[in-house]
Amino acid sequence: MTPSGRLRVGMIGLGTVGAQVAARLLERRAELSRRAGLELSLARVLVRDLHRPRAITMAEGLLTTEPAEVLDDPAIDVVVEVAGGEEPARSYLARAICNGKHVVTANKLVMAKHGLQLLELAGRRNVDVYFEAAVGGGIPLISTFRVDLAANYLSRIMAVINGTTNFVLGQMARGRTLAEAVAEAQAAGFAEADPTEDLEAHDAVYKLAIMASIGFGAHVRPEAIYREGIGRVDPVDFPYARELGYEVKLLAYAAQDEQGRVEARVHPVLLPLGHLLGNLEGAANAVYVEGDLVGPVLLQGEGAGGRPTASSVVGDLVDLARSCHRQVQRRPAIEFRSELVMLPMDLVETRAYFRCVLADRPGMLGAMFTVFGQEGVNIAGAMQKETEGDTAEFVVTTHPASDLALRRVRERIAAEEPDIAVRSFIRII
Ligand SMILES: NC(=O)c1ccc[n+]([C@@H]2O[C@H](COP(=O)([O-])OP(=O)(O)OC[C@H]3O[C@@H](n4cnc5c(N)ncnc54)[C@H](OP(=O)(O)O)[C@@H]3O)[C@@H](O)[C@H]2O)c1
Repeated sequence: MTPSGRLRVGMIGLGTVGAQVAARLLERRAELSRRAGLELSLARVLVRDLHRPRAITMAEGLLTTEPAEVLDDPAIDVVVEVAGGEEPARSYLARAICNGKHVVTANKLVMAKHGLQLLELAGRRNVDVYFEAAVGGGIPLISTFRVDLAANYLSRIMAVINGTTNFVLGQMARGRTLAEAVAEAQAAGFAEADPTEDLEAHDAVYKLAIMASIGFGAHVRPEAIYREGIGRVDPVDFPYARELGYEVKLLAYAAQDEQGRVEARVHPVLLPLGHLLGNLEGAANAVYVEGDLVGPVLLQGEGAGGRPTASSVVGDLVDLARSCHRQVQRRPAIEFRSELVMLPMDLVETRAYFRCVLADRPGMLGAMFTVFGQEGVNIAGAMQKETEGDTAEFVVTTHPASDLALRRVRERIAAEEPDIAVRSFIRII
């Protein structure tokens, strides 16, 4: 129990997520406190601008622009960080921990890049770090990995975890160009004014780094994850994909083998129509996990938005309050294996889809297939559409090959065959 018999919450941020967290804490205080076993009270909220119009009206004196009033005040027991960005969020979290406060954060960037250091610091200060909201908005992922799946050896995590790209690819499947689809996503509130982090898959990489680290018990750094955004996906690929029995998704994929080698990558994929992750529309997220005891598990829900994300943040607060009430100092530490070996992308085995444009004359196909053959890439299927003019479009799918061999096919065609162009290359799951 905290000395006061209460858990006094200091928040950093009162934007999309923060306003919903505050609303829930203020409007359902009695009910949440009963569930928590001690009184949960919102004591102070740090913002940048006191005069900005807010989605929630706060009592006089609750807002501050002075970080010390949240981070250094001994009357605050837990700091909820819903501000975002790397700095000063990381330093604020570290300072709160050093001051003996528990922290709850929705910040995937900070947790993916600095989570291990914050967890170690929290271990030394005997406080806890909660970060359910950092991955998958309202979908209960971290607690599921940490508690419910703890008995399992997890072999694979596959996720459609970025709502913006899922929405954009869905619109492209309906015939829009990338630019049109992004504009529609922005108009519908599914994309930021600057959508680079999402389109170039940084966001999905941060989320995968956190999930793979917790799920595999191995520290997977974001820099070690292969990343490719959706910028090179062409609307032309969607009808081809559908004809071949696939749809196009941005997939976050992590796997570990019995030797402890971990593969982690985020890139566009062709996913079989009817796959559990394939039917997601718009901003929905889903995570598919395979455990040796439990088998396959699918977790699906709203991966973003103020209310779903507040569900995770406030859930963390109630969990924390319960352990304070039981006088359990903090949850068991997250243990990471040290023998982790990241498999380089070149060694990853994958199937692939190539869309090539060839000069429409004899010998071109033979030349193209020779390159595939010389690189040891076995062709699974091929399809040619009749075209007008002097070029032909040819689609090739391959059997599994190393990513290095698949890259060499592309590089060699570009270097050696001036009349053949590889217009699209998408890996197949
Ligand atoms: N929005 C979502 O759907 C979603 C989903 C999952 C996770 N998250 C994560 O949740 C966090 C918050 O996202 P959001 O969408 O709520 O952001 P937001 O709407 O931009 O709100 C950010 C809030 O933080 C405050 N803030 C920013 N920098 C600050 C600083 N240096 N000092 C004090 N206050 C500061 C801002 O204050 P002012 O209002 O005074 O400017 C604002 O109230 C991010 O880490 C994000 O990745 C968001």
